[in-house]
Amino acid sequence: DKGNHRHFMAKEIYEQPEVVSHTLAHYIDMSEGLVRLPGDLPFDLADLKRITICACGTAYYAGLVGKYWFEKYARLPVDIDVASEFRYREVPLEPGGLAIFISQSGETADTLASLRYCSSEGQHILSIVNVQESSIARESETSFPTLAGPEIGVASTKAFTCQLAALACLAVAAGRQRGVLAEDDERKLVQALIEVPRLMSQALKLEPRIEALAKELSRARDVLYLGRGLNFPIALEGALKLKEISYIHAEGYAAGELKHGPIALIDEEVPVIVVAPSDTLFEKTISNMQEVAARGGRIVLLTDAEGAQAAGDQPFETLVLPQMYQFVQPLVYALPVQLIAYHTAVFMGTDVDQPRNLAKSVTVE
Ligand code: M6R
Repeated sequence: DKGNHRHFMAKEIYEQPEVVSHTLAHYIDMSEGLVRLPGDLPFDLADLKRITICACGTAYYAGLVGKYWFEKYARLPVDIDVASEFRYREVPLEPGGLAIFISQSGETADTLASLRYCSSEGQHILSIVNVQESSIARESETSFPTLAGPEIGVASTKAFTCQLAALACLAVAAGRQRGVLAEDDERKLVQALIEVPRLMSQALKLEPRIEALAKELSRARDVLYLGRGLNFPIALEGALKLKEISYIHAEGYAAGELKHGPIALIDEEVPVIVVAPSDTLFEKTISNMQEVAARGGRIVLLTDAEGAQAAGDQPFETLVLPQMYQFVQPLVYALPVQLIAYHTAVFMGTDVDQPRNLAKSVTVE
């Protein structure tokens, strides 16, 4: 049932404040304002030397955000790869390490094969899955749920932000147990997470602006997405969403990579979507944006009020999101990039929920 929405994808985008709030409630002790993981882990987060993360597609991008979080907030090195590469890399792993598998369906063939490999190499296996009766959930030592509810649209939306919610809590728990975060730091991060559903609802109010912008984007042949740090995976995810459902060629890049190649593509015909909240990396990303502007690129800037002011009138369109803690930015900035892809596809008349050539769950290699 699509409710009042035209597509499942729209319904699922709009469900995010609610389902993310459910997922957070599963990992946070709301009365204490601290993380409380569901169930004991069969290993000690304090003893880990490194983490391996494996997933595919959108779930891989969630893992990439997780990597930044584990490294920054828990000082834990993370090796991450797409499962189709990982499974054949013959990665040497030290027994007793932790391997995390992220999957909406829990049935992705490459992710499951990577899980089995890690299991045979003596890793602790933790999965973050949406379908709890799935193979990946069953074969894991510990399986943490994302409480997104059934996701029907082939393009993943709410499963992604719920994966982020679970990973954020796990990273905070790790940071605390490893003595990187003090109780006060944990409280601040948890408070920032608790505010995410409200911030998401605010971000969804950008929809009319995004709808107007989508008309413009639908004429593009190529679209570039740029971001840094925690927002780099959001640039990748934005590009994946756009190509999946609108069939417009899109690439996500770490903003700093621009000069190493993709800048050659920039002309008046190429919209460049820059994900740049005002944070510690803002200045750097904005200087990349200026390089795009100098070559006539049409910039769409996703930022907050402070960022919008600093960026001036160079962008062709600025979407202003609420101000928020850096830690939670990817959870909230995911929504406008989903809406951009959605409205571009709707405008072009493609089959949004069942895009050509794609399956919801990739159970063969
Ligand atoms: O079910 P999974 O999360 O394991 O699926 C992984 C990918 O196949 C999936 O995220 C895919 O990239 C989506 N179509 C993205 O929208």
